[in-house]
Amino acid sequence: MSNTPKHGLAKGLTNYGDTDFSLYLRRTFTAAMGYSNEMMARPVVGIAQSASGFNPCHRTFPELVEAVKRGVLAAGGLPLDFPTISLGEAFVSPTSMKFRNLMSMDVEEMIRAQPMDAVVLLGGCDKTVPAQLMGAASADLPAVQLVPGPMLPMPFQGERLGACTDCRRFWGKYRANEISTDQIEEIQTKLATTAGTCGVMGTASTMAAITETLGMSLPGTAAIPAVHADRLRAAEATGRQAVALARQPIRPSQVITAASVENALRVLLALGGSTNALIHLTAIAGRVGVPVSLERLNTLSDTTPVLVDLKPTGQHYMSDLYAAGGVGAVLRELKPLLHLDCMTVTGQTLGERLAANAPWVDRAVIRSREQPYQPQGGLAALFGSLAPKGAIIKRSAADPRLFEREGRAVVFRSLDDLAARIDDPALDVTADDFLVLQNAGPTSQSGMPEAGYLPVPAKLARAGVKDMVRISDARMSGTAFGTVVLHVSPEAAIGGPLGQVRDGDRIRLSVRDRRLDLLVDESELAARRAALPARTALPTRGYDRLYAQATLQAEAGCDFDFLRQQGPDT
Ligand code: FES
Repeated sequence: MSNTPKHGLAKGLTNYGDTDFSLYLRRTFTAAMGYSNEMMARPVVGIAQSASGFNPCHRTFPELVEAVKRGVLAAGGLPLDFPTISLGEAFVSPTSMKFRNLMSMDVEEMIRAQPMDAVVLLGGCDKTVPAQLMGAASADLPAVQLVPGPMLPMPFQGERLGACTDCRRFWGKYRANEISTDQIEEIQTKLATTAGTCGVMGTASTMAAITETLGMSLPGTAAIPAVHADRLRAAEATGRQAVALARQPIRPSQVITAASVENALRVLLALGGSTNALIHLTAIAGRVGVPVSLERLNTLSDTTPVLVDLKPTGQHYMSDLYAAGGVGAVLRELKPLLHLDCMTVTGQTLGERLAANAPWVDRAVIRSREQPYQPQGGLAALFGSLAPKGAIIKRSAADPRLFEREGRAVVFRSLDDLAARIDDPALDVTADDFLVLQNAGPTSQSGMPEAGYLPVPAKLARAGVKDMVRISDARMSGTAFGTVVLHVSPEAAIGGPLGQVRDGDRIRLSVRDRRLDLLVDESELAARRAALPARTALPTRGYDRLYAQATLQAEAGCDFDFLRQQGPDT
């Protein structure tokens, strides 16, 4: 028995001090599940799945797991699924972001601890795909990602609705008294009407597209709607491919490289994708020692047009993107800008994939590079005295009339302060002011919420104001829109300049020059810094303590410092 090759069920034996006994015992308990010796001799494909009653975006997972298993069995493998943490975006407090790294540790350690030769990662809602890729990259076992796919938009009173750009649009109308309480309650049941992830280019859809671009999922699978039969065929094919990977390993470290990460940045920009995806991609890349620089992002952004007309940047939905040609059509359009020698989980390079004949493309949804939706990339990084380590603006979903501005700061010290005062009729605010939110960054106890999309104060909203400059160290949902500056670093909670802004200070924003400056004398700022209260004590125990101690800033992907593989200093 001791000569048994170390793959399949013989991998990573439980330690009883007698390896032959360990394998004997493992086979005994595998037999208890009803598996034959023939099955026990097969390569093992783990299926890391994150189904949960608290995660509606993953409600198709039981069916998808069955389809993955079908593919694994057909290809000669033994599929064994296992649960991991699940993060349903609207169900986790204070934020799902706070638990992304915890989920990544769960995925990494369970891949490593259990006997498997390859793993299928089954996740979809915003933080789950990055957590799974981060964990798989660190474990560096052959892995292939499968997402559940987007939900379908549904017609309602003459227009199509889908989560969650439309959720925010209608909520804005409700706050402006343009629609009634009865109407907003009716619309609530019309926004998310099928299984699947949010149906616009939010974080989940952006991460699915980035994953396909990196080469960590099968070609053509990112945009298949959740309820489409193609989604089940993609699951079956994913299971088959996982067996191929078990036999001929291609490891995440061979797929996630500096070149494929740059390709993913190009696609993020061409999609007008989620700002969150930049943080997640940085964290994933950090697990294999690949740095992502915001200066490089700006260079790529200047030469990457927005090609896709999807909400919140444009008008269409993810199901339209699928019908229009999917991520493959976007990649073909970007081909001259991409590194084509990147390896993928299929064993083909990206260039080999894109060498196939181009299918039909709907140019209403996926534009050509010659006639793009917008001439430059969707995201831009800003630097300056207010953001020495950088900040992000999603210019593709912002109002260009607000890009070159100087404004008066109206400051909110925390989320509680924001909630208490934003709609106060006595709030001293005009449409030309800059709303500033402090203490909502990565290490704050609010867990870097998607609160950077500060609501327009009710009295201004009722007067017809739709957009204002908003600045914070928080994040923004990928489904949101507006002139919103996010991820200001260093954050206020660790003493960044953002925390020293006071009501009435002048701030200058220039998207053209990539600048964000606080127009206050250094001597005054030094006095404010000296007067800052001492940092609140660390939480005394548990995950709160680990999170507060180990979380890095946005430009490092908000990963835990001890989980990143050390790469070249950027
Ligand atoms: Fe899960 Fe939007 S809430 S993808």
